[in-house]
Amino acid sequence: MGRVFSGVKPTSDVPHLGNYIGAFRNFVATQDVHECLFCVVDLHAITVPPWDPKDLNRRTRRLAASFIAAGIDPSRSTLFVQSDVHHHTDLAWILTCISRMGELSRMTQYKDKSRGQDQQGVSVGLFSYPLLMAADILAYQANLVPIGDDQRQHLELTRDLAERFNREFGETFPVPDALIAEHGARIMALDDPTRKMDKSTEHPQGVIWMDDDEDTVRSKVSRAVTDSGRDVVYSRDKPAIANLLEMFSLLAGQSIPDLETRFTGKGYSDFKSALTDTIVEYLTPFQVRFAEVLEDTDQLDEILDQGAERAQRLASSTMKQVRESIGLRRP
Ligand code: TYM
Repeated sequence: MGRVFSGVKPTSDVPHLGNYIGAFRNFVATQDVHECLFCVVDLHAITVPPWDPKDLNRRTRRLAASFIAAGIDPSRSTLFVQSDVHHHTDLAWILTCISRMGELSRMTQYKDKSRGQDQQGVSVGLFSYPLLMAADILAYQANLVPIGDDQRQHLELTRDLAERFNREFGETFPVPDALIAEHGARIMALDDPTRKMDKSTEHPQGVIWMDDDEDTVRSKVSRAVTDSGRDVVYSRDKPAIANLLEMFSLLAGQSIPDLETRFTGKGYSDFKSALTDTIVEYLTPFQVRFAEVLEDTDQLDEILDQGAERAQRLASSTMKQVRESIGLRRP
Protein backbone atom coordinates (compact mmCIF):
# COMPACT_ATOMS: atom_id res chain seq x y z
CA MET A 1 0.00 0.00 0.00
CA GLY A 2 1.34 3.39 -0.97
CA ARG A 3 0.40 6.90 -0.05
CA VAL A 4 -1.58 8.88 -2.62
CA PHE A 5 -1.82 12.65 -2.88
CA SER A 6 -3.70 14.75 -5.38
CA GLY A 7 -5.10 18.25 -5.55
CA VAL A 8 -7.63 20.23 -7.55
CA LYS A 9 -7.83 24.03 -7.88
CA PRO A 10 -11.04 25.79 -6.82
CA THR A 11 -11.13 27.97 -9.93
CA SER A 12 -14.69 27.20 -11.05
CA ASP A 13 -18.01 26.65 -9.31
CA VAL A 14 -17.91 22.91 -10.03
CA PRO A 15 -15.44 20.62 -11.77
CA HIS A 16 -15.99 19.81 -15.44
CA LEU A 17 -16.38 16.43 -17.03
CA GLY A 18 -12.68 16.37 -18.00
CA ASN A 19 -11.66 16.79 -14.34
CA TYR A 20 -14.10 14.09 -13.44
CA ILE A 21 -12.95 11.56 -16.01
CA GLY A 22 -9.24 12.41 -15.85
CA ALA A 23 -8.93 12.80 -12.09
CA PHE A 24 -11.87 12.25 -9.72
CA ARG A 25 -12.73 8.81 -11.07
CA ASN A 26 -9.18 7.68 -10.42
CA PHE A 27 -9.14 9.27 -6.97
CA VAL A 28 -12.11 7.13 -6.03
CA ALA A 29 -10.44 4.00 -7.39
CA THR A 30 -7.19 4.60 -5.46
CA GLN A 31 -9.12 5.07 -2.25
CA ASP A 32 -9.89 1.34 -2.19
CA VAL A 33 -6.25 0.38 -2.39
CA HIS A 34 -4.10 3.09 -0.84
CA GLU A 35 -3.89 5.62 1.95
CA CYS A 36 -5.16 8.80 0.28
CA LEU A 37 -4.99 12.54 0.79
CA PHE A 38 -7.08 14.83 -1.41
CA CYS A 39 -6.67 18.55 -1.29
CA VAL A 40 -8.53 21.66 -2.41
CA VAL A 41 -5.50 23.69 -3.50
CA ASP A 42 -6.78 27.19 -2.84
CA LEU A 43 -3.31 28.76 -2.82
CA HIS A 44 -2.83 27.58 -6.39
CA ALA A 45 -6.09 29.28 -7.31
CA ILE A 46 -4.64 32.72 -6.51
CA THR A 47 -1.70 32.49 -8.89
CA VAL A 48 -3.67 34.40 -11.51
CA PRO A 49 -4.62 37.73 -9.89
CA PRO A 50 -6.91 39.46 -9.36
CA TRP A 51 -9.32 37.01 -7.76
CA ASP A 52 -12.62 37.65 -6.07
CA PRO A 53 -12.32 36.65 -2.38
CA LYS A 54 -16.01 35.70 -2.24
CA ASP A 55 -15.65 33.45 -5.27
CA LEU A 56 -12.58 31.79 -3.81
CA ASN A 57 -14.35 31.09 -0.54
CA ARG A 58 -17.48 29.71 -2.21
CA ARG A 59 -15.54 27.63 -4.71
CA THR A 60 -13.33 26.11 -2.04
CA ARG A 61 -16.38 24.83 -0.20
CA ARG A 62 -18.06 23.64 -3.39
CA LEU A 63 -14.96 21.80 -4.54
CA ALA A 64 -14.69 20.04 -1.19
CA ALA A 65 -18.33 19.00 -1.64
CA SER A 66 -17.52 17.82 -5.18
CA PHE A 67 -14.87 15.43 -3.88
CA ILE A 68 -17.46 13.85 -1.60
CA ALA A 69 -20.17 13.83 -4.28
CA ALA A 70 -17.74 12.10 -6.63
CA GLY A 71 -17.28 9.30 -4.11
CA ILE A 72 -14.42 10.32 -1.82
CA ASP A 73 -15.22 8.93 1.59
CA PRO A 74 -13.82 11.26 4.26
CA SER A 75 -13.76 8.48 6.81
CA ARG A 76 -11.23 6.63 4.65
CA SER A 77 -9.44 9.44 2.81
CA THR A 78 -8.08 12.69 4.21
CA LEU A 79 -9.89 15.60 2.56
CA PHE A 80 -8.62 19.06 3.38
CA VAL A 81 -7.88 22.59 2.19
CA GLN A 82 -4.29 23.47 1.32
CA SER A 83 -4.16 26.82 3.12
CA ASP A 84 -5.20 25.12 6.38
CA VAL A 85 -1.79 23.42 6.56
CA HIS A 86 1.09 25.90 6.56
CA HIS A 87 3.71 23.23 5.80
CA HIS A 88 2.87 23.43 2.09
CA THR A 89 4.14 26.99 1.79
CA ASP A 90 7.07 26.36 4.15
CA LEU A 91 8.29 23.49 2.02
CA ALA A 92 7.55 25.37 -1.20
CA TRP A 93 10.01 28.06 -0.12
CA ILE A 94 12.71 25.52 0.58
CA LEU A 95 12.10 23.92 -2.82
CA THR A 96 12.20 27.39 -4.41
CA CYS A 97 15.75 27.69 -3.13
CA ILE A 98 16.90 24.43 -4.70
CA SER A 99 15.11 24.89 -8.02
CA ARG A 100 16.42 26.73 -11.05
CA MET A 101 15.01 29.47 -13.25
CA GLY A 102 15.77 27.34 -16.30
CA GLU A 103 13.70 24.34 -15.28
CA LEU A 104 10.74 26.48 -14.27
CA SER A 105 10.90 28.50 -17.49
CA ARG A 106 10.45 25.26 -19.42
CA MET A 107 7.07 24.46 -17.85
CA THR A 108 4.57 24.40 -20.69
CA GLN A 109 1.62 25.22 -18.47
CA TYR A 110 3.34 28.42 -17.37
CA LYS A 111 4.09 29.27 -20.99
CA ASP A 112 0.47 28.61 -22.00
CA LYS A 113 -1.03 30.59 -19.15
CA SER A 114 1.28 33.56 -19.49
CA ARG A 115 1.04 33.67 -23.29
CA GLY A 116 -0.40 36.90 -24.59
CA GLN A 117 0.30 38.71 -21.30
CA ASP A 118 3.00 41.27 -20.80
CA GLN A 119 5.81 39.12 -19.38
CA GLN A 120 6.70 41.81 -16.83
CA GLY A 121 3.16 41.72 -15.48
CA VAL A 122 2.81 37.94 -14.93
CA SER A 123 2.60 36.98 -11.25
CA VAL A 124 5.65 35.35 -9.68
CA GLY A 125 3.16 32.91 -8.15
CA LEU A 126 2.24 31.64 -11.61
CA PHE A 127 5.91 31.08 -12.36
CA SER A 128 6.64 29.24 -9.12
CA TYR A 129 3.31 27.38 -9.13
CA PRO A 130 4.94 23.97 -9.80
CA LEU A 131 7.07 24.34 -6.66
CA LEU A 132 4.00 24.65 -4.46
CA MET A 133 2.60 21.62 -6.24
CA ALA A 134 5.82 19.70 -5.57
CA ALA A 135 5.61 20.75 -1.93
CA ASP A 136 2.00 19.51 -1.72
CA ILE A 137 3.14 16.06 -2.78
CA LEU A 138 6.47 15.83 -0.98
CA ALA A 139 5.18 17.15 2.36
CA TYR A 140 3.26 13.88 2.67
CA GLN A 141 6.03 11.69 1.27
CA ALA A 142 3.45 10.50 -1.24
CA ASN A 143 4.36 7.69 -3.63
CA LEU A 144 1.53 8.03 -6.12
CA VAL A 145 -0.10 11.04 -7.71
CA PRO A 146 -3.27 10.48 -9.77
CA ILE A 147 -3.46 13.30 -12.36
CA GLY A 148 -4.55 14.09 -15.89
CA ASP A 149 -2.06 14.32 -18.70
CA ASP A 150 -1.62 18.11 -18.41
CA GLN A 151 0.11 17.70 -15.03
CA ARG A 152 2.70 15.23 -16.27
CA GLN A 153 5.50 17.78 -16.60
CA HIS A 154 4.85 19.19 -13.12
CA LEU A 155 5.22 15.73 -11.70
CA GLU A 156 8.50 15.25 -13.55
CA LEU A 157 9.78 18.41 -11.89
CA THR A 158 8.59 17.12 -8.50
CA ARG A 159 10.56 13.95 -9.07
CA ASP A 160 13.67 15.92 -10.03
CA LEU A 161 13.38 18.06 -6.92
CA ALA A 162 12.89 15.05 -4.64
CA GLU A 163 15.99 13.42 -6.09
CA ARG A 164 18.00 16.63 -5.82
CA PHE A 165 16.97 17.19 -2.22
CA ASN A 166 17.76 13.58 -1.29
CA ARG A 167 21.17 13.84 -2.96
CA GLU A 168 22.10 17.08 -1.23
CA PHE A 169 20.58 16.58 2.21
CA GLY A 170 20.07 12.85 2.66
CA GLU A 171 17.27 10.46 1.82
CA THR A 172 14.04 12.25 2.72
CA PHE A 173 11.42 11.97 -0.01
CA PRO A 174 10.17 8.95 -1.94
CA VAL A 175 10.30 9.82 -5.64
CA PRO A 176 6.60 9.88 -6.52
CA ASP A 177 5.07 8.23 -9.57
CA ALA A 178 2.34 9.80 -11.66
CA LEU A 179 -0.80 7.73 -11.99
CA ILE A 180 -2.13 8.70 -15.39
CA ALA A 181 -4.91 6.57 -16.83
CA GLU A 182 -4.34 5.16 -20.29
CA HIS A 183 -7.72 6.52 -21.40
CA GLY A 184 -9.42 9.75 -20.43
CA ALA A 185 -6.32 11.57 -19.19
CA ARG A 186 -6.89 14.31 -21.75
CA ILE A 187 -10.52 15.02 -22.55
CA MET A 188 -10.77 17.61 -25.29
CA ALA A 189 -13.17 20.54 -25.65
CA LEU A 190 -16.44 19.77 -27.42
CA ASP A 191 -16.14 22.78 -29.68
CA ASP A 192 -12.51 22.19 -30.60
CA PRO A 193 -10.85 18.77 -30.32
CA THR A 194 -7.39 20.32 -30.51
CA ARG A 195 -7.88 22.10 -27.17
CA LYS A 196 -8.32 20.32 -23.85
CA MET A 197 -11.55 20.82 -21.95
CA ASP A 198 -10.63 23.44 -19.37
CA LYS A 199 -12.09 25.72 -16.75
CA SER A 200 -11.66 28.97 -18.65
CA THR A 201 -15.00 30.49 -19.48
CA GLU A 202 -13.93 31.79 -22.87
CA HIS A 203 -15.43 28.80 -24.68
CA PRO A 204 -18.57 27.84 -22.76
CA GLN A 205 -19.77 25.47 -25.50
CA GLY A 206 -16.67 23.34 -25.12
CA VAL A 207 -17.16 22.38 -21.47
CA ILE A 208 -19.64 20.15 -19.69
CA TRP A 209 -19.91 21.20 -16.06
CA MET A 210 -20.80 18.65 -13.44
CA ASP A 211 -23.91 20.66 -12.56
CA ASP A 212 -25.19 21.06 -16.13
CA ASP A 213 -28.82 20.00 -16.51
CA GLU A 214 -30.06 17.63 -19.19
CA ASP A 215 -31.09 20.34 -21.67
CA THR A 216 -27.71 22.02 -21.39
CA VAL A 217 -25.84 18.75 -21.91
CA ARG A 218 -28.06 17.90 -24.89
CA SER A 219 -27.47 21.25 -26.49
CA LYS A 220 -23.70 21.18 -25.94
CA VAL A 221 -23.32 17.60 -27.19
CA SER A 222 -25.54 18.18 -30.20
CA ARG A 223 -23.43 21.19 -31.15
CA ALA A 224 -20.13 19.42 -30.51
CA VAL A 225 -17.95 19.54 -33.61
CA THR A 226 -17.68 16.29 -35.52
CA ASP A 227 -15.36 15.26 -38.29
CA SER A 228 -16.22 14.93 -41.94
CA GLY A 229 -18.11 11.79 -42.95
CA ARG A 230 -20.79 10.20 -40.80
CA ASP A 231 -19.19 7.02 -39.46
CA VAL A 232 -18.74 6.56 -35.75
CA VAL A 233 -15.19 5.18 -35.80
CA TYR A 234 -12.19 5.80 -33.59
CA SER A 235 -9.26 7.08 -35.58
CA ARG A 236 -6.44 9.57 -35.21
CA ASP A 237 -7.63 11.57 -38.19
CA LYS A 238 -11.07 11.93 -36.57
CA PRO A 239 -10.08 13.64 -33.32
CA ALA A 240 -13.56 15.01 -32.54
CA ILE A 241 -15.36 11.65 -32.77
CA ALA A 242 -12.42 9.93 -31.07
CA ASN A 243 -12.83 12.30 -28.11
CA LEU A 244 -16.58 11.71 -27.87
CA LEU A 245 -16.07 7.95 -28.18
CA GLU A 246 -13.48 7.98 -25.44
CA MET A 247 -15.83 9.85 -23.10
CA PHE A 248 -18.70 7.55 -23.98
CA SER A 249 -16.62 4.43 -23.44
CA LEU A 250 -15.33 5.51 -20.03
CA LEU A 251 -18.69 6.68 -18.74
CA ALA A 252 -20.70 3.73 -20.04
CA GLY A 253 -18.04 1.12 -19.27
CA GLN A 254 -18.27 -0.17 -22.86
CA SER A 255 -15.26 -0.71 -25.06
CA ILE A 256 -14.70 1.55 -28.05
CA PRO A 257 -14.98 -1.36 -30.56
CA ASP A 258 -18.34 -2.31 -28.97
CA LEU A 259 -19.54 1.25 -29.38
CA GLU A 260 -18.37 1.34 -32.99
CA THR A 261 -20.38 -1.80 -33.66
CA ARG A 262 -23.41 -0.43 -31.84
CA PHE A 263 -23.45 2.70 -33.99
CA THR A 264 -22.53 1.19 -37.35
CA GLY A 265 -24.71 2.78 -40.00
CA LYS A 266 -26.45 4.98 -37.46
CA GLY A 267 -24.70 8.34 -37.96
CA TYR A 268 -23.71 11.10 -35.61
CA SER A 269 -27.11 12.20 -34.44
CA ASP A 270 -28.09 8.84 -32.86
CA PHE A 271 -24.64 8.60 -31.39
CA LYS A 272 -24.85 12.06 -29.83
CA SER A 273 -28.26 11.41 -28.40
CA ALA A 274 -27.07 8.19 -26.71
CA LEU A 275 -23.94 9.97 -25.46
CA THR A 276 -26.11 12.69 -23.92
CA ASP A 277 -28.15 10.05 -22.06
CA THR A 278 -24.98 8.43 -20.77
CA ILE A 279 -23.53 11.72 -19.55
CA VAL A 280 -26.77 12.71 -17.83
CA GLU A 281 -26.99 9.31 -16.15
CA TYR A 282 -23.53 9.94 -14.78
CA LEU A 283 -24.14 13.54 -13.68
CA THR A 284 -27.43 12.94 -11.90
CA PRO A 285 -26.18 11.01 -8.84
CA PHE A 286 -23.28 13.46 -8.53
CA GLN A 287 -25.68 16.41 -8.53
CA VAL A 288 -28.00 14.86 -5.94
CA ARG A 289 -25.15 14.08 -3.56
CA PHE A 290 -23.50 17.46 -4.18
CA ALA A 291 -26.67 19.30 -3.12
CA GLU A 292 -26.99 17.13 0.00
CA VAL A 293 -23.40 17.75 1.09
CA LEU A 294 -23.69 21.50 0.56
CA GLU A 295 -26.81 21.64 2.65
CA ASP A 296 -25.00 20.50 5.78
CA THR A 297 -22.26 23.10 5.98
CA ASP A 298 -21.44 22.28 9.61
CA GLN A 299 -20.66 18.72 8.72
CA LEU A 300 -18.60 19.77 5.72
CA ASP A 301 -16.59 22.14 7.91
CA GLU A 302 -16.01 19.41 10.41
CA ILE A 303 -14.76 17.06 7.72
CA LEU A 304 -12.33 19.71 6.49
CA ASP A 305 -11.15 20.56 10.00
CA GLN A 306 -10.48 16.94 10.79
CA GLY A 307 -8.78 16.46 7.43
CA ALA A 308 -6.53 19.45 8.06
CA GLU A 309 -5.59 18.16 11.50
CA ARG A 310 -4.58 14.81 10.14
CA ALA A 311 -2.72 16.32 7.19
CA GLN A 312 -0.95 18.69 9.56
CA ARG A 313 0.28 15.77 11.66
CA LEU A 314 1.65 13.89 8.66
CA ALA A 315 3.30 16.93 7.09
CA SER A 316 4.83 18.14 10.32
CA SER A 317 6.69 14.88 10.71
CA THR A 318 8.18 15.29 7.19
CA MET A 319 9.00 18.92 7.91
CA LYS A 320 10.87 18.10 11.11
CA GLN A 321 13.16 15.92 9.06
CA VAL A 322 13.50 18.54 6.32
CA ARG A 323 14.24 21.40 8.73
CA GLU A 324 16.82 19.41 10.57
CA SER A 325 18.57 18.17 7.46
CA ILE A 326 18.89 21.64 5.91
CA GLY A 327 20.20 23.16 9.16
CA LEU A 328 17.35 25.30 10.50
CA ARG A 329 17.58 26.11 14.21
CA ARG A 330 14.40 24.35 15.29
CA PRO A 331 13.62 21.00 13.67
P1 TYM B 1 -6.61 21.27 -12.03
O1 TYM B 1 -7.39 21.84 -10.90
O2 TYM B 1 -6.42 22.11 -13.24
O3 TYM B 1 -7.27 19.92 -12.52
C1 TYM B 1 -7.62 18.89 -11.63
C2 TYM B 1 -7.31 17.53 -12.24
O4 TYM B 1 -8.07 17.35 -13.44
C3 TYM B 1 -7.20 16.96 -14.51
N1 TYM B 1 -7.73 17.53 -15.77
C4 TYM B 1 -8.10 16.80 -16.82
N2 TYM B 1 -8.09 15.47 -17.06
C5 TYM B 1 -8.55 15.05 -18.26
N3 TYM B 1 -9.00 15.88 -19.23
C6 TYM B 1 -9.02 17.22 -19.05
N4 TYM B 1 -9.45 18.03 -20.01
C7 TYM B 1 -8.55 17.74 -17.80
N5 TYM B 1 -8.43 18.99 -17.30
C8 TYM B 1 -7.92 18.83 -16.04
C9 TYM B 1 -5.86 17.58 -14.14
O5 TYM B 1 -4.80 16.92 -14.80
C10 TYM B 1 -5.84 17.38 -12.64
O6 TYM B 1 -5.38 16.08 -12.30
N6 TYM B 1 -1.83 21.71 -10.66
C11 TYM B 1 -3.02 20.93 -10.46
C12 TYM B 1 -3.51 20.92 -9.03
C13 TYM B 1 -2.51 20.47 -8.02
C14 TYM B 1 -2.06 19.13 -7.82
C15 TYM B 1 -1.16 19.22 -6.72
C16 TYM B 1 -2.33 17.93 -8.46
C17 TYM B 1 -1.90 21.25 -7.11
N7 TYM B 1 -1.08 20.50 -6.32
C18 TYM B 1 -0.51 18.09 -6.25
C19 TYM B 1 -1.68 16.78 -7.97
C20 TYM B 1 -0.79 16.88 -6.89
C21 TYM B 1 -4.13 21.53 -11.32
O7 TYM B 1 -4.06 22.64 -11.72
O8 TYM B 1 -5.20 20.73 -11.49
